[in-house]
Amino acid sequence: MNSLNPVAFVDQDFTELKTLLENYHDKKQVILVDTNTKKYCLTLLLEHVPELNHAEIFQVAAEENSKSMEICFDLWKRLTDNNFNRNDLLINLGGGMISDLGGFVAATYKRGMDYINIPTSLLAQVDASIGGKTGVNFHHFKNLIGSIYLPKSVFIFNDFLTTLPKRQILSGFGEVIKSGLIADKELWKEIKQLDEISIGQLTDIVKDACQIKLDIVKSDLHEKSIRKTLNFGHTIGHAIETYSMSNHPSPCFHGEAIAMGMICESYISWKTNKITQEDHQEIEGFIVKHYAKIDFDLNDFSSLLETMKKDKKNISNEYNFSLLDEIGLACFDVKVEEELIKESLVHLHNINF
Ligand SMILES: NC(=O)c1ccc[n+]([C@@H]2O[C@H](COP(=O)([O-])OP(=O)(O)OC[C@H]3O[C@@H](n4cnc5c(N)ncnc54)[C@H](O)[C@@H]3O)[C@@H](O)[C@H]2O)c1
Repeated sequence: MNSLNPVAFVDQDFTELKTLLENYHDKKQVILVDTNTKKYCLTLLLEHVPELNHAEIFQVAAEENSKSMEICFDLWKRLTDNNFNRNDLLINLGGGMISDLGGFVAATYKRGMDYINIPTSLLAQVDASIGGKTGVNFHHFKNLIGSIYLPKSVFIFNDFLTTLPKRQILSGFGEVIKSGLIADKELWKEIKQLDEISIGQLTDIVKDACQIKLDIVKSDLHEKSIRKTLNFGHTIGHAIETYSMSNHPSPCFHGEAIAMGMICESYISWKTNKITQEDHQEIEGFIVKHYAKIDFDLNDFSSLLETMKKDKKNISNEYNFSLLDEIGLACFDVKVEEELIKESLVHLHNINF
């Protein structure tokens, strides 16, 4: 297995990345992009890092559907056709779709080739690119096929965010909120003071959120214990995301669904006497102020609950949650009654955003 390297915060001169590339000067390199990151990020990267000018470029469509076995077959074939070896380097330049897809291709090609992540979306910078979870979707299930395979390193360059649409910034910020709530009360205090969520204010916050994720995955890579706390907001959020994919003409983004999930799961944390009502109201108030509501039909409880039961994080036929013990401290493997889950969904449904 690769070793877990700390996140390198790369500044304008890309020093950390250039240093790593010295180890690959006599190796082949390939940059995996989607149509958007080719358009908005590749030129910037090559301008700063001309060492990569000779790298192959593999491009896939900028859509979640690119996380598929068919695209993997294509990428494995292209690696083979270009005589790539396991010591050559795959560079994932993109959001979480690219790091999940490219990470999985790297994990499986010749039983594991070297790869690095250069995340270009906020969600990928604070979450998806860190921790080695890689995978593709299969038979309508998200991330069903995958592995945990660590990148050699992750390089974060904030300037990429300047071309990221505002809604994608908000989506990524959902995971930043989660980081504060589960692990860092001070970070949450900073977050809740923000009047608007814009990239200008994000540099330090992104750094803190990355460090939280890195610390957690370092101590529990295989999600046996504390890594489960990263799932706060995700049990219900993922069900809402799945619902939205089937029922909304323009489905919500991952982090937007997680924001809704955090309203419900902080409600459950309050109702099970973990956090106070004021804490819950503060969390809810911030999310309501910054996010749009993702609506669902109250008659569709059963499909939402069914998705929660099928959650691959469940090991038995129960609803297993990560909740907040207090702000900045999360707990995991908490069984929650179906009635309380429904109550939290009704609560969300009745909020005026
Ligand atoms: N592995 C993990 O731990 C983990 C964690 C969370 C999410 N994920 C996965 O990550 C994916 C979601 O990540 P995402 O939100 O980054 O989605 P994404 O990769 O689809 O990126 C969102 C959109 O932004 C575009 N984009 C990316 N960077 C850009 C930039 N700098 N300028 C302009 N456009 C840019 C992309 O082309 C895409 O259209 C999902 O597949 C999810 O399952 C993985």
